[in-house]
Amino acid sequence: MLYDHPKYYEVAFSFRDISAEAAFMQTGIERHSRIPVHSLLEIGCGPAPHAEELARRGYRYIGLDLNRTMLDYAADKWRDLHPAPSLIEGDMTDFSLDSQVDFAFVMIGSLYLRSESHLRSHFDAIAKALRPGGLYFLDWCIQFFDPTAWDDKLVFQVEENGIAVRSQIRVRPVESAGNLFEEFWTVDVDDHGRRERYKMAERNMALYPREFREFIDRRKDFEFVGWWADWDLDRFIHDGTNIDRPLVIVRRTAGSTP
Ligand SMILES: C[S@@+](CC[C@H](N)C(=O)[O-])C[C@H]1O[C@@H](n2cnc3c(N)ncnc32)[C@H](O)[C@@H]1O
Repeated sequence: MLYDHPKYYEVAFSFRDISAEAAFMQTGIERHSRIPVHSLLEIGCGPAPHAEELARRGYRYIGLDLNRTMLDYAADKWRDLHPAPSLIEGDMTDFSLDSQVDFAFVMIGSLYLRSESHLRSHFDAIAKALRPGGLYFLDWCIQFFDPTAWDDKLVFQVEENGIAVRSQIRVRPVESAGNLFEEFWTVDVDDHGRRERYKMAERNMALYPREFREFIDRRKDFEFVGWWADWDLDRFIHDGTNIDRPLVIVRRTAGSTP
C-alpha cells in the first residue's frame, strides 16, 4: 500500500499548489460560511499536506484518517505547528468527534464510499461533527465526467529530492454493480537508486452531479451552495464548462439529521 509509505505518497501528490488550495478554502469560507471559522476537519487527511497553510491562516486543524502510519507521519511532521493539529484515527463512513468543528473538507477525491448506505452514514457523521452554518468542501469527489472515460491509463511522474515516483491509474466499472468502480494504482518508486513497486486496488462509488444534488436536496441538514472549476471561485460550473478539478461546497443547516 502506498498509504503505508507517506513519504512516497507525498512525492506522488506534490504536483499540487497547496497554498492556492488553502486560499480557495479561505475565500470560500469568507463568502459562504454562516459562522466564524476557527476549527477545520479534514476527512482522509493522510500526511495533512494543507495543515501548515491552514494553521498560518489561523485555523485549528483536525485530521481524520484510517491509516495509523499516515497519522504518525503527520503528527511528527507538524509537531511544531501552532495551533497544534489534532490527528484522529477513524473511518469516514462512521466517526464522531469530541467537539464540533466550523468547517470540514475532503481533498483530491478521497471520499471512499462503496454504497448508498456509506454515503448516508458519512453525511450523518459530518452533520454531527459540523456546526450549523458551517461548510463542507469536497475537492474532486463528484464525477462530472465518466471515470472510465479516462479509459486506458492515467500516468503521473514526479521527482523530488532524489525520489522519483511514477503512478499509473486505471479505472474500470465493476460489472453489474451500478455506479461502483475499481481503481488500480501501480506506483514505481526510485529512491536514490532503490526501486520499489506498490500496487493498490480500491472500490468506490462514483457520485454524479445530478444524483449528488438530489441527495443533498433530500436531506434536511445540508443545503447545496455551489460548484466551481479548477480552484477559481469565479468559475461556477454550468453545462459545457471545461473542468479539470470540480469543487463542491454544501452547508450544514439548522435542520436535524434524518
Ligand atoms: C489520496 S489520500 C489523501 C490524503 C490527503 N487528504 C491529501 O490531500 O493528500 C487518501 C487518504 O484517505 C485515507 N482513507 C481511506 N479510506 C478511509 C476511510 N474509510 N476513512 C478515513 N480515511 C480513509 C487513506 O488512508 C489516505 O491517507
